[in-house]
Amino acid sequence: MIPIITIDGPSGAGKGTIAQAIARELEWNILDSGSLYRLTALAASKEGLSLDNEEAIEKLARGLAVKFESMPQGLKILLKGEDVTEAIREEQVGMMASKVAAMEGVREALLARQRDFAKAPGLVADGRDMGTTVFPDALLKVFMTASAEERAQRRYKQLKEKGIDVNIAALVEDLKLRDEQDANRKVSPLKPADDAIFLDTTSMSIEQVTEQLLELARQRFSL
Ligand code: DC
Repeated sequence: MIPIITIDGPSGAGKGTIAQAIARELEWNILDSGSLYRLTALAASKEGLSLDNEEAIEKLARGLAVKFESMPQGLKILLKGEDVTEAIREEQVGMMASKVAAMEGVREALLARQRDFAKAPGLVADGRDMGTTVFPDALLKVFMTASAEERAQRRYKQLKEKGIDVNIAALVEDLKLRDEQDANRKVSPLKPADDAIFLDTTSMSIEQVTEQLLELARQRFSL
């Protein structure tokens, strides 16, 4: 069986950063499942599809022509050959992704694609339903949270570093709305798996969280 670590939690809890750090350290594969919902949202918007057209969006998700290329500075994401690494991170794409992710057909369409990432020597998968739906047999499941204010602060800093000016209050509202949508949808809502370990990272540094999870991984997988 392929060893799998799942990291689920609300937007901006630091799952992506931590998943990357752990995957790099262990030399395991990585699945950023949110990027698949973001790619579906971006593709739908490029094709001018309305969010009411669930059938067409499901078809799009099923046929998504996406490529992940490993680069020294992180993953490069290509949609139909176009580099969309930056474009999918935009706030409005995230909000649209959250809406697209509530569609049962879209989740079903992306399921096999996500499970294909489970390859030797191991996988670190981050998202909302990695431990509950996509990899229910994973040996190490983490549910990572941080206060909405702290998550908005982190996002604000990231955007500021990129030279993008945003209003922090608007970011907090945005995050809360997205959490609400993700936690209250009918299919695969954001919720901890019964066997998940809770980790509140509000007052922890990236290094502290990474070290704690690596320690857990070493124990669980006898590394
Ligand atoms: O993690 P993220 O912000 O890139 O995810 C974008 C949206 O995709 C998020 O609002 C909810 C959705 N998502 C999901 O429903 N299930 C996942 N496993 C990952 C993301």
